Amino acid sequence: MGRAGGLTPLYPADAVIMAPLSGYTDVPYRRSMRRHGCRFAFTEMVDAASLAYARKRSEGLLRRDAAEEFLGVQLVGGDPEQLRVALDVLNEYDFDVLDFNLGCPVPKVARKGAGAALGRNVERALALFALFRERSRHVLSAKIRILSETDPAPTMALVRGLYELGARAVTIHGRIKEAFYSGPVHYEIIRAVRESVPVQIVGNGGIMNADSAEQMRRESGCGPIMVARGAMGNPWLFRELSAGAAFTPPTVTELLAEVERHVLEMTQEYGEIVAMRMARKMVHDYLRGRGFAGEFRSGASFLNTMEDLRRFLAAAPAAHAESYWGQAESGLLRERLLSRG
Ligand SMILES: Cc1cc2nc3c(=O)[nH]c(=O)nc-3n(C[C@H](O)[C@H](O)[C@H](O)COP(=O)(O)O)c2cc1C
Repeated sequence: MGRAGGLTPLYPADAVIMAPLSGYTDVPYRRSMRRHGCRFAFTEMVDAASLAYARKRSEGLLRRDAAEEFLGVQLVGGDPEQLRVALDVLNEYDFDVLDFNLGCPVPKVARKGAGAALGRNVERALALFALFRERSRHVLSAKIRILSETDPAPTMALVRGLYELGARAVTIHGRIKEAFYSGPVHYEIIRAVRESVPVQIVGNGGIMNADSAEQMRRESGCGPIMVARGAMGNPWLFRELSAGAAFTPPTVTELLAEVERHVLEMTQEYGEIVAMRMARKMVHDYLRGRGFAGEFRSGASFLNTMEDLRRFLAAAPAAHAESYWGQAESGLLRERLLSRG
């Protein structure tokens, strides 16, 4: 086979990778993460059909800042013809790894036989990944979910096949398709797969703070880990995971300055009208679980201009309760809120 993927690991053993997040991980979002120590990041998933047949619309998703050190692109699709065209298009772009999405559970994707639905059909998933190997000039990886909560064998079969077809890393989300984003993360399944296939495994699922990162590493045995919801509105997670006990959370002033900068960069990217519509959920994410009164936070849903945002942020310190902040600092409150996710 000659090009089996496992020999050279893609990531350093202590890597903390920002997951692809649809609707989130665009250029301004990644800039915010990178300001706080994120080195490895992905675009949002790019749909093969859109890339193949409506290229202009999805090209924006592939934009890369000159300063970005490591950027992966993630492709989702289940139709060989669409994937072939999309892979050819992606050969015109420069990035560091091309990831195949075999884990997305949302019905819109599953109905097309893509994402987690495709991951379930190991033979078909591998036949399509063989197209990646044949067609793409990029380094390859895949992101999957565990296929059973009790038996590691099906997940092992998928990961072994991906490895044999040249994947340099496989990210495993330790939840099955039906669990979507809640419930326990099955570290033991990730561990069993990791011990049976010599490809680099990235552990994903439920990493919200230093404790859960440590738990993922200890119980799954993975060095590299991927964070997702834990970093939404919380770019400081990257510092927290590298500094450990020495980490100090952002002050209210630092938090509000980051929100303003992130949203300002969104307006520069998309124009004010589009950006402000997208920014509302970002502002909610930044403020959630950090000691701001609920009534105040709900005001984020009515922001229409940068001027509105500045006025909103100016009122934020007065809506902040120190009693909450203590809990938020300990990560308990955020963890509880995020795990509702
Ligand atoms: C809003 C949202 C968007 C997501 N978009 C993607 C995506 O585009 N590609 C992907 O592989 N996973 C996507 N995911 C899944 C995450 O990358 C990750 O696997 C999952 O959230 C589990 O990690 P967590 O428990 O740390 O959040 C998304 C998750 C959420 C909540």
